[in-house]
Amino acid sequence: MSGLFITLEGPEGAGKSTNREYLAEHLRAAGLDVVLTREPGGTPLAERIRELLLAPSDEKMDADTELLLVFAARAQHLAEVIRPALARGAVVLCDRFTDATYAYQGGGRGLSLERIAMLESFVQGDLRPDLTLVFDLPVEIGLSRAAARGRLDRFEQEGQAFFEAVRQAYLARAKAAPQQYRLIDAALPLAQVQQSLGALLPQILERCRG
Ligand SMILES: Nc1ncnc2c1ncn2[C@@H]1O[C@H](COP(=O)(O)OP(=O)(O)OP(=O)(O)O)[C@@H](O)[C@H]1O
Ligand SMILES: [Mg+2]
Repeated sequence: MSGLFITLEGPEGAGKSTNREYLAEHLRAAGLDVVLTREPGGTPLAERIRELLLAPSDEKMDADTELLLVFAARAQHLAEVIRPALARGAVVLCDRFTDATYAYQGGGRGLSLERIAMLESFVQGDLRPDLTLVFDLPVEIGLSRAAARGRLDRFEQEGQAFFEAVRQAYLARAKAAPQQYRLIDAALPLAQVQQSLGALLPQILERCRG
């Protein structure tokens, strides 16, 4: 038995967390074993690494340090949560995964995609998401939604150009592998976003049962 690994991607304020709940509800109603998790984090140790990554600090974090911390957290998350869940046949709905590394550390920080790919193979072996939902929206809208939540984390303090690069990196990855990615227009009102997710449910259910 092997489960289904679905990741939700997109910038701050795109609606990943909101819509993850929506998907989980519908998949559970269909009788599936659904595991909700997120990155960076997803286990107590990985959540401590998340705090290191998100906390604003006077010491500038080197981009390589950031990249390695992201993958260190991911190794723990895979070992403790994702691989065991997939092995027992669950659907894993993960809020951010390695596409976020390509977008933030690759696009945003400008680190080489080859080095990210090296770490991806090192930490994940052959494991890749079965399906990745990319919540896409103009940078200003995402930032204003995130700002409405209050204090900004270390990433949210970045400027427009950083988030523009993040967005373009996500779009490029979605375009390069259309069989893995579904692009969602996250600028639409929530009801419409959920309508487009609803339209994906039959194929998700079919893949879970196939
Ligand atoms: N389509 C939408 N239209 C308007 N507001 C939305 C929409 N989707 C989500 N929101 C609101 O925007 C805010 C951010 O949503 P959410 O927390 O789901 O985003 P996120 O992608 O998880 O962000 P982050 O990466 O920062 O965790 C929330 O207040 C949510 O209610
Ligand atoms: Mg969120």
